[in-house]
Parts: sequence; C-alpha cells; structure tokens
Amino acid sequence: MQEIVDLRSDTVTRPSPGMRRAMAEAEVGDDVFGDDPTVHRLQDHAAALLGKEAALFLPSGTMANLVAFLAQTHPGDTIILSESAHPFHYESGNLAMVAGLMTRTVADPLGKMTAEQVSEQVVQTSDTHYSPTTLVALENTTNRGGGACYEYYEVENIAQLCRDRGLRLHCDGARLFNACTASNIDAEFYARCCDTVSFCLSKGLGAPVGSVLTGDRDTIARALRFRKMLGGGMRQAGVLAAAGLYALENHVQDLEEDHRRARDFRRALEAEGVQFALPSPTNILYIETNDPAGDIKELRALGVLAMAAGAERIRAVFHRDIDEAGLHRAVEAFKAVLAPRQRD
Ligand SMILES: Cc1ncc(COP(=O)(O)O)c(C=O)c1O
Repeated sequence: MQEIVDLRSDTVTRPSPGMRRAMAEAEVGDDVFGDDPTVHRLQDHAAALLGKEAALFLPSGTMANLVAFLAQTHPGDTIILSESAHPFHYESGNLAMVAGLMTRTVADPLGKMTAEQVSEQVVQTSDTHYSPTTLVALENTTNRGGGACYEYYEVENIAQLCRDRGLRLHCDGARLFNACTASNIDAEFYARCCDTVSFCLSKGLGAPVGSVLTGDRDTIARALRFRKMLGGGMRQAGVLAAAGLYALENHVQDLEEDHRRARDFRRALEAEGVQFALPSPTNILYIETNDPAGDIKELRALGVLAMAAGAERIRAVFHRDIDEAGLHRAVEAFKAVLAPRQRD
C-alpha cells in the first residue's frame, strides 16, 4: 500500500533515525530541579543562536507564546497583534482566560503588521477608561498569511516604535527558521529587534515535541515560573531536548528543499489553472476552491491529506516527510480533484 502524503501541517513530521538515536542516547536529569544537562545544552544553544541572554524549553508553541505574554504584561493590559495571529485564533482563548489580556488587532491579508498600523492601535493615556497597551506580538512566518516573512527593516521599524513608546515586542517565530531560510536573514538579526522570540522545534524542524522562548535573563526567569504554574515543568526532558538540538544542528538546512517543493507544487498546479489565494514564499500554500470539504474527501481517497481553511480555501504545507515522490503524488491528486473544475 502506498504511504499517505500528509500535507495538513508540518507538525506531522516524524523524528528521523538520527534524531531517534540522539534521543535514546540523551543524558538526562530532573529538569524541574534544574538537573537535566541536555535541556541546559538546548537552552544555551538557542540563546546563543538568537543572541539572547537566556532561553527556556517548553512543551509547545502555544505555551511559549502564553508565558511570553504572562511574563511581559499584567492582567487587564492590551496587546497588539495581527487579526490573523495564531494566539488570536488558535490558542483556545488563553489570552483572555489565562493571561487576562485585551487585544487590539491589525488587518493584513499576509498576517504582517507595519509600524504605522501598530502605532494607530497603541493606547497610552492617563484616562482610566482605557486599558494600557504594553506588548506587541508579531508572527514570523505567518501561518494564516501563507507563510509570509518579515523583511528585517519591517521588524526594526516596529521595534523602534516599541522602544519609543515603552512597549515590549514578542516574536512568535513558530517557523522562524523558515523565515530565515526564505529571506536570508539570520535568526539573530530578527531576534535583535525583539525582547522575546519563540520558535518551534516540532514543525518543519521535525522534532516530536517542543518550543523554545528566548529573551533577557529576568524575563526568562519570570517565564520559568509561569511555565511551572501552567504545568509545563517536565522531568527527564533531555530526551526531548536532544531531538531539538539534533533538529537545530541537522535539519535547518533542509527547509530550503521544503520551500522549493512548495514552489514546484504551486507552479505545476497554476499551469493547470488552479488558483492560489496568497503568495507562498515558504512552505504554506492556500488553494482556492468553492468546496473545501468535498475536495478534501476526494484528495483523501487518492492518498493525499490536506486541510480546509475556511469556506473557500484548502491549506497544504510542505515539510521534510514529503519527498520528490510525495510531491509528484500531491500534484497529480490536486490536478485530478481541482484542475478540471477550475477549467469549466
Ligand atoms: C504561528 C504559530 N504560532 C504558534 C503555534 C502553536 O504551536 P503548538 O502547536 O506547538 O502549540 C503554531 C502552530 O501551528 C503556529 O503556526
């Protein structure tokens, strides 16, 4: 039987044989006691990579965002983020429920924000009717924006605004290394602009679990306390941190291939008249259709999994578990399901 080609997300990637070996051989200790040497190695490596004082290993990107918000705001504050940002849509309302935050949002189809748009949303007044803005959160790459990435100057402009207005700046870099790969910008360059930066190890980098939050020592110390409060303290977590270290050392360079396959997929389907909703500079593609649910069923019957994204789009995400044969099968399946209808 042919293997399923799973384009639902880059989170479906499974640990590679080398990664599994690194996990099996990891030196471990109780990380809640601060005793796990592999977790320390991952955190030190991540902090150095992003040019930050400290880093914290967390179970998920959701928890990384949440502890970043908790550590840099107070309940009742307002944060500014894109209206398509992951924490606004897909983190189960934790901003409101757990962090007690209000949100003001910026509209942009690519999920990016400009300094001018952010500036329009900042509220700083002694008028007690208002909730004060204290943090800005950007996403790089943008999930709902088709994997768009920020140019360095765009982040720097937002950072300058935040410095001028005394606001903290967080970067949700769940796919930061995809942004670095596509834009040829070092992670450290992006990170320099932001107070805190999180990134996921469990998406295109292929680790089974884990995210890292980086920042200054005081903020990371506060984040550590919130991680514990949320139940995110992990014991012999070195087994997982070893996968993360392996991913950073061995898998980052493969992201370019994921992007190239995404480009080839798009080119092949556009040649058949299939329409794409947004540019796709990295590994995330949105395909236009008037029947996402029906199309997904037909694709599944051909051994290809994709995800409905609203009433008019299908999302397909390329990742390290899709090889050339998988790309070919994906193109053929999408052609069979979508191309004839779009030519009608
Ligand atoms: C941009 C972005 N931020 C945060 C997350 C949350 O990551 P996790 O699924 O590890 O909680 C995701 C997950 O897809 C994401 O795309």
